[in-house]
Amino acid sequence: MNFIKLLVCCLFLILNSSTVFAQKTFVVKANEIKASIQPTMWGVFFEDINLGADGGIYAELIKNRSFEFKKPMMGWRVLGLTKTEGDFQVLNRQDANTANPRYMHIVLNHAKHDLGLSNEGFRGMGIKKDLGYDFSFMYRQKSSDIKVHIELVSSKGEIIGKTIIQPNNTGDVWKKISASFIAKETDMKSHLNIWFEGDGVIDLDMISLFPKDTWKNRPGGMRADMIQLLADMKPGFIRFPGGCIVEGYDLSQRYQWKKTIGPIEERQLIINRWNTEIVNRPTLDYFQTFGLGFFEYFQLAEDIGAEPLPILNCGMACQFNSSELVPIEGLDPYVKDAIDLIEFANADSTTYWGKIRASLGHAASFHLKMIGIGNENWGPQYVERLKIFTKAIKEKYPDIKLVYSSGTDPEGERFNYLNSVLRKMNADIIDEHYYRRPEWFLANAKRYDNYPKDGSKVFGGEYAAQSDHTVSVNNKNTWLTALSEAAFMTGLERNADVVSMASYAPLFAHIDGWQWTPDLIWVNNLQSYGTPDYYVQKLFSTNKGTKVVPITLNNEAVTGQDSLYATSAIDEVEKELIIKIVNASVKHQNQAILLDGVKSLTTKGKLIVLKSDNLYSVNSFEHPENIAPKESEIDIKGRKILLDLSPYSLNVLRISMK
Ligand code: AHR
Repeated sequence: MNFIKLLVCCLFLILNSSTVFAQKTFVVKANEIKASIQPTMWGVFFEDINLGADGGIYAELIKNRSFEFKKPMMGWRVLGLTKTEGDFQVLNRQDANTANPRYMHIVLNHAKHDLGLSNEGFRGMGIKKDLGYDFSFMYRQKSSDIKVHIELVSSKGEIIGKTIIQPNNTGDVWKKISASFIAKETDMKSHLNIWFEGDGVIDLDMISLFPKDTWKNRPGGMRADMIQLLADMKPGFIRFPGGCIVEGYDLSQRYQWKKTIGPIEERQLIINRWNTEIVNRPTLDYFQTFGLGFFEYFQLAEDIGAEPLPILNCGMACQFNSSELVPIEGLDPYVKDAIDLIEFANADSTTYWGKIRASLGHAASFHLKMIGIGNENWGPQYVERLKIFTKAIKEKYPDIKLVYSSGTDPEGERFNYLNSVLRKMNADIIDEHYYRRPEWFLANAKRYDNYPKDGSKVFGGEYAAQSDHTVSVNNKNTWLTALSEAAFMTGLERNADVVSMASYAPLFAHIDGWQWTPDLIWVNNLQSYGTPDYYVQKLFSTNKGTKVVPITLNNEAVTGQDSLYATSAIDEVEKELIIKIVNASVKHQNQAILLDGVKSLTTKGKLIVLKSDNLYSVNSFEHPENIAPKESEIDIKGRKILLDLSPYSLNVLRISMK
């Protein structure tokens, strides 16, 4: 062979090997336990952002039900011709009721179903044919000669549900009255009209409309389709209530859990900090009614089998906003909130807060095991406050694990400072956030390979690959973002002795009311769908196993060689071997997997593949499962498995070891 021929031959080989990679062999050592995977490994992060709670999982359909928004008539309009100025007045009883001061005072003068109020809902109201709806309000009246006609009106202007209420509560004491009706049509953007008939004066507050098909059919409960998507993930924990919402723009807007429990009419509304936070996506009608409060969050955690992880304000408002601090000598009430929360969640009903929990309908403990102190706080001011919280909480509840923030970024001066100081403080768990480009996620599959195995554990508390830059409204949930997260997550799971928890963020976004992208689950008034990122999260969470075992390529962990990423685990309960491999390359990759250290194997295994040829493809309301897992059976010959890994794919293999 002359030199030219040799060169052509070599070139061909090189080109050929770049279109279909030569077969490589992974080795799995199923009897070499590397680390325990915590049941909390994969969880969910919930925050009232993007209409996550109000207008989202909280199924209330009336916006501004108690007239407490900054503009009391936001969401409302008066119907018909008022006879005199002042027939509809928003009154304020601040002294008598500081939590819910405003109400609607209505003067009727021979009204004939020609005067009323209309509510537009959060972005319209999603109504379902043949479903029951519960309407209610709180009221008091001066005359008993009043009838109230309730009409649900579709976007086409047709009445698709109605009922009549005849209030009979004359006097000064507020009373609740309800009526139910069935909707005749499905409509995405209905509104509700309340017409009055009769004479006299009536005061209204807490005007409410709920569908009957809430999660677990709880009256006044949560949107079942959204919660089902969470339950399907079998999350190990649920973090709530955020996020930046914990901090508030200033301290007056911080999240205060004690104001979110008990009768909903006594829960004081505040502005949602996402109302004006994202300049390109102002959401001026975004407030927190707290119809969904801490009791409901704990109950939700229990319902979906997730450990509750409440995050509390540490005496610091958002450092991107006002940066307000509580002086150290004023920190006591904040620390007390944390201590009281543990009593509220766990103690028996002989205690003050345990008794309150029992009175709300949950005598048993919620088994709270961890709480977070601060969200994305940083600097010595944070450490100073943390020390005070830690001392007080650990003195009373030594077993409660504390989650500390490492700031907003996974590197840089602030992160390095906190990571070093918090580790010296023997932090139980350190919360790291990564909102980065897909390249960062691919490159960081090794991030935890050299982290200390002893001492503080890592909580990947918020992460999402950004198709554009962080906080850009152009971010999309593409297959590229999801695939790069999957590659990164193999590194989290492989280092389960370092990383004990992780959650994607944010969780929900309403298509007509979002501020932040990308998000795990998108909803409109009637539908919800999981993004490709959702399916990645779900696949990891529902296939996590209990112990990490090594999977190697040429004796090395698989962290990006030929764009392959892998982790493997055994599930001691199901007696199965679980292998996850990401092929982040454009090529098919023929792969042999050699299974070592297993006594017996079945001849068939289960392969779940999530893939797309197009890195920029997405799921949508029209095509919710454009990218969704597909299951098939594979053959296992002796101890060898041959796999053809599709381009751009996440592959989950389950093999019985019974
Ligand atoms: O997930 C959205 C926001 O990102 C969270 O509220 C905050 O913690 C982070 O900056």
